[in-house]
Amino acid sequence: MQIAAILVAAGRGERAGGNVPKQYRRIGGKAVVAHAWDALASHPAVGAVHVVIGAGQEAMLAKALGDRPTLPPITGGATRRESVASGLHAAAGADAVLIHDAARPFLPHAVIDRLIAALKQADGAVPVLPVVDTLARGDAALGDTVARDGLWRVQTPQAFQLAAVAAAHARWDAEREATDDAQMVRAAGFEVTMVEGDARLDKLTTAADLAAAEARMLTSVRTGMGFDVHRLAAGEELWLGGIRIEHDMGLAGHSDADVALHALTDAILGAIGAGDIGIHFPPSNPRWRGAPSSHFLEHAAALVQAAGGRIEHVDLTIICEAPKIGPHRGAMQARIGELLGLSPGRVSIKATTTERLGFTGRGEGIAAQAIATVRLPEDM
Ligand code: CTP
Ligand code: MG
Repeated sequence: MQIAAILVAAGRGERAGGNVPKQYRRIGGKAVVAHAWDALASHPAVGAVHVVIGAGQEAMLAKALGDRPTLPPITGGATRRESVASGLHAAAGADAVLIHDAARPFLPHAVIDRLIAALKQADGAVPVLPVVDTLARGDAALGDTVARDGLWRVQTPQAFQLAAVAAAHARWDAEREATDDAQMVRAAGFEVTMVEGDARLDKLTTAADLAAAEARMLTSVRTGMGFDVHRLAAGEELWLGGIRIEHDMGLAGHSDADVALHALTDAILGAIGAGDIGIHFPPSNPRWRGAPSSHFLEHAAALVQAAGGRIEHVDLTIICEAPKIGPHRGAMQARIGELLGLSPGRVSIKATTTERLGFTGRGEGIAAQAIATVRLPEDM
């Protein structure tokens, strides 16, 4: 049996909001549609994967799928039903099709296995889950409860003999809309069986669904530490924790020498295993002479984002006798939060002296140490 997949990704994702339709947004560093494509393409029984996109979405799809060996995309229509119909034309050579919403990125192979097994005896098969909440009608006030026995939540992929689903689409009254293909196949007189679905297949509809899916993906918690020292010298500006502080001495170094941001940058790089600040911004490169250290910190944050991760928290300790850090703590917290895209509650700034001992005690330099906590997708 030749099985093709039709991945419908031609919607506008209006309920999820944002500038980019939900199927092209990234979750854990990978576009939603790419998650679904990978699940389909990696299943041994699935042959061609036909992706149906909206007119003008070509560039977004190309960016989302990167260098995967994809077929040319198919242009869909104004409704899901029309988009599926376009996909069915492209899949004309297959015996059976799996029709799947790109907005359901997490597709376990076990569900595909169950659908294909069921298709041996049936015209169609769909994954379903029982309804667990109480169901009720209602208007302004709560109305009657609806018995939930015998009611199911119907997911995708939906599997059909190609002849059955093609006939169902051909016979469908174009004035009516259908939210899935199984109802059309049934209306055409074919039988559709049910197999066990999977909660991971739930459709991403709202912005909250996307955020929750991302939070579920970022299961690997990493920590990194950073440490740095710079010499105090007369005639230098003092940059510390991302802000300029009035002081009789400043820190010397190849950049603006913000020792606190350097420790923080190293902590973040450490959490994602990306080396240290010197690898990314070699002191030997004249380009970084006098450079604002905010640039280094933003670069580290961008690397976390590129890895599909999220910074959860940073904690910084500044070690010096002077200046006093307390009066500047709030400003540092705000600036670092701004650079990292973190709320102030996720940026901790502490300070200590060394009881006049050692180089910090003698006022020869300032030291800083930092810890960053980052969440990454499990397989990074
Ligand atoms: N879809 C499609 N063509 C359309 C409409 C929807 O291919 N004209 C696809 C969507 O891309 C999605 C799936 O059908 O993968 C399920 O639709 P839905 O969740 O409603 O997505 P959107 O229509 O994009 O979202 P919204 O209804 O919020 O605008
Ligand atoms: Mg829709």
